[in-house]
Amino acid sequence: MSTLREILVETEGVLSRAGVDSPRLSAELMAAQALGLSRTQVLLDLNRVLSPDEARAIRTLAARRGQGEPAAYILGQREFYGLDFSVSPDTLIPRPETETLIEAALSAFSSCDSLRFLDMGTGSGTLAVTLAHLFPEAQGLAMDLCPRALGVARENARRHGVADRLAFVRADFSRPLVRPGLLDLVVANPPYLSEAEFGEISPEVSGFEPRQALVAGPRGDECLEGLIPLAGQALAPGGLLLLEFGWTQGPRALEIIARSGLFVSAEVRRDMAGLDRMAWAKRQAW
Ligand SMILES: C[S@@+](CC[C@H](N)C(=O)[O-])C[C@H]1O[C@@H](n2cnc3c(N)ncnc32)[C@H](O)[C@@H]1O
Repeated sequence: MSTLREILVETEGVLSRAGVDSPRLSAELMAAQALGLSRTQVLLDLNRVLSPDEARAIRTLAARRGQGEPAAYILGQREFYGLDFSVSPDTLIPRPETETLIEAALSAFSSCDSLRFLDMGTGSGTLAVTLAHLFPEAQGLAMDLCPRALGVARENARRHGVADRLAFVRADFSRPLVRPGLLDLVVANPPYLSEAEFGEISPEVSGFEPRQALVAGPRGDECLEGLIPLAGQALAPGGLLLLEFGWTQGPRALEIIARSGLFVSAEVRRDMAGLDRMAWAKRQAW
């Protein structure tokens, strides 16, 4: 029989040898998940003697992590803008840089605005659910091609008490979805890697996260090309498009925005790492 402290030391060693970042933290999170405890409860109960089943459950989760499976998929959740979101292998794991879009929306609108918004490629629903949470008068539509991702997004909307103000639709963001001029805000974090870039990213991403959420096509800008004109048409005059892209794609995004002839102004904004990350584009008057 081992204590929790002993299993943590053992699994930290396994994870460290496997090259996992922050192996001690990972070991604690795996133990918490296996035992149905919070991480704080784990840290307060290090002398607890584990049953063989409990020790085995911790070792099993740690082995999955050691083989490169992202912690978010093992734990079934990831935090985004202070809210916990369920994730599954059908959804991208929310990234902190996507919070840049939420900050931009907060700076553009007042929290009491009755926004009508669309989230194109909602995945686990992070953008739509966070916006509905921060703008209590808002109504949103969230779309994705993947029905299982939409199931996760609906679950997250219920979890955060905003399901009555969000509709989730299976749709392709390269086809018109709403009547022209309807919306105040469109947010999108579409796939933006090229096929070559996908071949070069970390196996922890390419081996576990859905390809459909990451790869746009041979060049990487295919989704931006399809989505920008449709987002522009969906926006009311003065409406705002907040669009995430890869850090080298700012000039290309601005070019597509300008070519669409639908926006009166557009600029690239950076994420907290100082990298070009999103376009802020205002719809022109009719
Ligand atoms: C980069 S993920 C973003 C997920 C989520 N919005 C986030 O920021 O965490 C892109 C999402 O777009 C969806 N997607 C890919 N191609 C699509 C298409 N043609 N139409 C609608 N959704 C699409 C994927 O299924 C995936 O959920």
